[in-house]
Amino acid sequence: METRNLGRCGLKVSRLCLGTMTFGESRTFMKGATSNDEDARAVLDAALDAGIDFVDSANVYSEGRSEELLGEWLGARRQRVVLATKCRFAMGMKGGGPNDKGLSRRHVLEACEASLKRLRTDWIDLYQVHMQDGRTPIEETLRALDDLVRAGKVRYAGCSNYTGYRLAEAIGVSSSLGIHRYESQQIQWSLLVRDAERELVPAARAFGMGVLVWSPLARGFLSGKYRRGEAPPAGTRLAAWKDRWASFDKERHWKILDAVQEVAARHRTGSAPVALAWLLQKPEVTSIIVGARTPAQLRENVAAAELKLTPEDVQALDRASAPEWGYPYDFIGGFGEPW
Ligand SMILES: NC(=O)c1ccc[n+]([C@@H]2O[C@H](COP(=O)([O-])OP(=O)(O)OC[C@H]3O[C@@H](n4cnc5c(N)ncnc54)[C@H](OP(=O)(O)O)[C@@H]3O)[C@@H](O)[C@H]2O)c1
Repeated sequence: METRNLGRCGLKVSRLCLGTMTFGESRTFMKGATSNDEDARAVLDAALDAGIDFVDSANVYSEGRSEELLGEWLGARRQRVVLATKCRFAMGMKGGGPNDKGLSRRHVLEACEASLKRLRTDWIDLYQVHMQDGRTPIEETLRALDDLVRAGKVRYAGCSNYTGYRLAEAIGVSSSLGIHRYESQQIQWSLLVRDAERELVPAARAFGMGVLVWSPLARGFLSGKYRRGEAPPAGTRLAAWKDRWASFDKERHWKILDAVQEVAARHRTGSAPVALAWLLQKPEVTSIIVGARTPAQLRENVAAAELKLTPEDVQALDRASAPEWGYPYDFIGGFGEPW
């Protein structure tokens, strides 16, 4: 599989990354939407066979079990794999003591040690903060990450779920302190959710950051297995997340899916590869973090790496999914200028 440099770094990563949020039996936010240990190992094997050697986890996925499973599987494969994980939230996502979460020096260092243990490794290739922490000085977080890099426990630092102003602040502070900076950001981006194109994607372009995309199929909606006017099929993530279904079941989303399915029919492929290929043709995208609960899903998604959309396909998908950009993007765009 083709690789790209992670932003301006020398690190090479495959264009598809395997997400492990579905690994391990979750008792919290992924309850009912995960795979068992055996299926998780089969997905990992299938990914490596397909040339995906970039894997993303987080300490909170299945309350640590995702990292543990990964650690058990890695063994002699460790050297072949570019390993990414994250810290920020309390285990179990909610609750925990005041120092069991956030991006304080204390919590970042503690969380990193715990992840290294679960992953059974001496180093993490890409250590990402899972979401900004407005209650901790940015300098404190960046210095803690810099120390981890200097100690050889982490190779590169990255971030996820930042606002535009806070990301720009972080880049500026690292540069003025002469310390390691965020080399990549992990953002939600799909044909359904294009908000990151307002600030975060232009910021990645401006600062030479790598972009890793999460929920590229909008939690599976863009796979085409959900139908207008029908309840989500049993055993799917959106059936498990009943309270969230209403936010997916919207005419705008069905129209986007119609456009995806038209392009898929032209290429004699599935909806998932088309939705992923739309992201892959974006120049800013370094790698897409694919979620797959089963090896069959993974194999279908891998087809995206070979799918070449035509300019007409891209135009049709862009048109169907165009959001209302709002101010000041409409104002700037009105002059034909990029923002
Ligand atoms: N930084 C962050 O805050 C953040 C947040 C979320 C995710 N992530 C990362 O991004 C990764 C991917 O996120 P995601 O799982 O939400 O991605 P996604 O691609 O939007 O959704 C993946 C889910 O869609 C379904 N699916 C995938 N391929 C399919 C196919 N070909 N046919 C039918 N159904 C298919 C499966 O769910 P079912 O079979 O259960 O329906 C699968 O678990 C995660 O593993 C994690 O590493 C990061």
